[in-house]
Amino acid sequence: EGTGRFIVGGNWKCNGTRESVKALVEALNKNVPNIEKNCDIYCCPTFLHLPYVKDNLNERFNVCAQNSWVEADLVDPEHHYDSTTGAFTGEISAEMLEDLQVPFVLLGHSERRTLLGDTDEIVGKKVAHARYHGLSVVVCVGETLEERENGTTFDVIFKQLKAVAKEIDDREHSSWGSSVVIAYEPIWAIGTGKVATPEQVQEVHSKIRSWLAENVSEDVAKATRIQYGGSVNASNCADLAKLSDIDGFLVGGASLNGDDFAAICNASS
Ligand code: G3P
Repeated sequence: EGTGRFIVGGNWKCNGTRESVKALVEALNKNVPNIEKNCDIYCCPTFLHLPYVKDNLNERFNVCAQNSWVEADLVDPEHHYDSTTGAFTGEISAEMLEDLQVPFVLLGHSERRTLLGDTDEIVGKKVAHARYHGLSVVVCVGETLEERENGTTFDVIFKQLKAVAKEIDDREHSSWGSSVVIAYEPIWAIGTGKVATPEQVQEVHSKIRSWLAENVSEDVAKATRIQYGGSVNASNCADLAKLSDIDGFLVGGASLNGDDFAAICNASS
């Protein structure tokens, strides 16, 4: 069973110029009166555009960073929450996001896992570190086409979840429901126009929920929102939104269009 409160995210990825970001912010602000009330919303601009978007986007939308830095060896179990600010050229720390009052961070997106070296272990540490700095996190999980075809979808997803659960201590588990969102994004459905079928989405979401019940707690399983991401658009969102274990969407391409993104936010109504 889903949690009853929807959450929709727009992942802008590595897109945008000052001009196009300004136009997108204006288009989103224009759509605010239509946006379903029973839905949390977040937009993920690049780090470069984050302050502008935070200052100019209607407060009905939260801003969300696309990543935060942690070095696998830096955060050891003994010194779980060492600072990640320092000599890490080109990186952005959770402390900086906290300072900027960015409420959300997206972690473990498959593009970071496959192209930029974010292992399950690093994603787990990033989640723990971001939580320590008060950020809510959206953790992406999902399988490749090859993994789906060779029947290892759930092994992959459960391993990704385990790495996160392991890093979050018992104290943190009690706040999972409100501060940790899981986004199921099958890699073969991302940017391909090939959306997962409602049956595939429901099957994975309900298994993620059962995994949480067995490995974290019943309460966490009930309260955790599970988003689906992968070629969601204004025309396919309504059918997916009806599924019992879906609590929202994580949208890539269609989130760059204000009207389409508003339609997806309204899909839960
Ligand atoms: O994080 C969202 C994403 O990976 C899905 O992208 O373009 O298939 O909606 P898209």
